[in-house]
Amino acid sequence: MCATTAEEVELESSVRAFIDKPHQMLIGGQWVPAESGQTFDVFNPATDEVIAHAQSAAQPDVDKAVKAARQAFDDGPWTRISPAERGRIVWKIGELIMDHQEELAQLEALDNGKPISIARAADVPLAAELFQYMAGWATKLNGEQIGLTVPYAPGSEWHAYTRREPVGVCGQIIPWNFPLLMAAWKLGPALACGNTVVMKVAEETPLSGLKLAELMQEAGVPDGAVNILTGFGEEAGAPIAGHPDVDKIAFTGSTEVGRMIVDAARGNLKKVSLELGGKSPNIVLDDADMDKAIPGAANAIFFNHGQCCAAGSRLFVHENVYDQVVEGIADYARNIKLGPGLDPATQMGPLVSRTQLERVTGYLEAGKKEGARAAVGGERAGGNGYFVEPTVLVDVADDMSVSQEEIFGPVVTATKFRDMDDELIRRANETPYGLASGVWTQDISKAHKLASRIRAGTVWVNCYNIFDAALPFGGYKQSGWGREMGEQVLDNYTETKAVAVSL
Ligand code: NAI
Ligand code: MG
Repeated sequence: MCATTAEEVELESSVRAFIDKPHQMLIGGQWVPAESGQTFDVFNPATDEVIAHAQSAAQPDVDKAVKAARQAFDDGPWTRISPAERGRIVWKIGELIMDHQEELAQLEALDNGKPISIARAADVPLAAELFQYMAGWATKLNGEQIGLTVPYAPGSEWHAYTRREPVGVCGQIIPWNFPLLMAAWKLGPALACGNTVVMKVAEETPLSGLKLAELMQEAGVPDGAVNILTGFGEEAGAPIAGHPDVDKIAFTGSTEVGRMIVDAARGNLKKVSLELGGKSPNIVLDDADMDKAIPGAANAIFFNHGQCCAAGSRLFVHENVYDQVVEGIADYARNIKLGPGLDPATQMGPLVSRTQLERVTGYLEAGKKEGARAAVGGERAGGNGYFVEPTVLVDVADDMSVSQEEIFGPVVTATKFRDMDDELIRRANETPYGLASGVWTQDISKAHKLASRIRAGTVWVNCYNIFDAALPFGGYKQSGWGREMGEQVLDNYTETKAVAVSL
């Protein structure tokens, strides 16, 4: 394996031109630099080389963006156009994403490091689909007619009803693991519901969000309705979370920063939705179809190099099939082709940043010190890029750091269980997180029993990492507040108003 290969896709000229131009931020419909004039480096994680510079937003830029979003909300036009027209614009964003599918996939592969085959097949089309699914809700945000329980005055008549209205100015802070898709998850519903937005994209991966901003302008999103900032968490994210004119904050990232968002939101008690970390259990019973369970469990952890909040990072395998499953996943791991995201043959790219490389290799070291053994992998992989070998850790105890903490890399712990009993449920649920989980069995009754007892926002049965615009996603416990996608996300982006009319 080497960091760059001769087989890399040649960048489309439009992508090359986009990367090379000076990057600015979209505020109030204008492309502007940071007030401070400061920029930061954007890296290619496959080579550790700087490929671009982005604006480093801070409080004054946030103030400007919030003012623009406030004005676009309070004075229109975004809030004054018809729901049908709003829906058409949101739909159009999806269409433009598909028109620029290859460009966006190339940007994502270069900036994030993910395989271009995955960016083409998953990130980009799922982002488009999300906008188009949400577009449909713009015309379906209905209230209800409600009969009052008491007449209040003898013989009085009432007409009472509810209205669903946008929350207002939404601050949105997103991570780097699915840069375009995370932007879509947040922008799609916010816009469909008639809100205006100030979004900060992740400092590791600002490029696809800036490209998306161009496409949103082209789709007809009016000036100020969407503002896209680039910059760091403390300088640019915290001022959004704390801003008194922001009505709602939506955050995806670490649980640690999630807590800071909650603290920052307390000033004006803005609404908060959070999608945070996970340490998801993936349970393989001895009656599972091994031809599906083994690659499925491998994919549960290795997809996106383990940089998934939902990664199936704690594998519980029935003792009768433990050796077969561990050996099967180890074999799968040995055959994964590591390489730069832009090589179409790459199956696993580098981690996103030097910081993540150090974090993940730090966990590998800690695990070994605590007595865990790598059945496969366990090391950094070649070149200057941020590559880590896909790793299966065995001889692990439930209280080791590698079993307890989110590693966010291609590292799974594999442990045994004897019976599908309370003890297994206790171990599966013994984590502060509750985002996702997997169950592999051919026994439908066992599958549903486990599905009801696992404390997590998602249970995948005989599959893993199935995300859909129509399926709600979010966390129990410290994995978050609220749900994204599906009909449930509308709760994050609407207020319900009760209107009581004395007739
Ligand atoms: P992070 O939580 O620091 O970053 C996520 C986003 O929050 C970025 O846009 C960042 O700029 C912003 N941010 C950081 N500090 C902030 C603050 N004080 N106020 C407002 N915004 C702030 O996550 P990071 O450092 O990239 O990764 C650390 C760990 O977090 C990972 O190893 C992983 O365990 C977890 N993580 C979870 C994600 C998920 O999808 N749930 C995504 C990314 C990271
Ligand atoms: Mg951080």
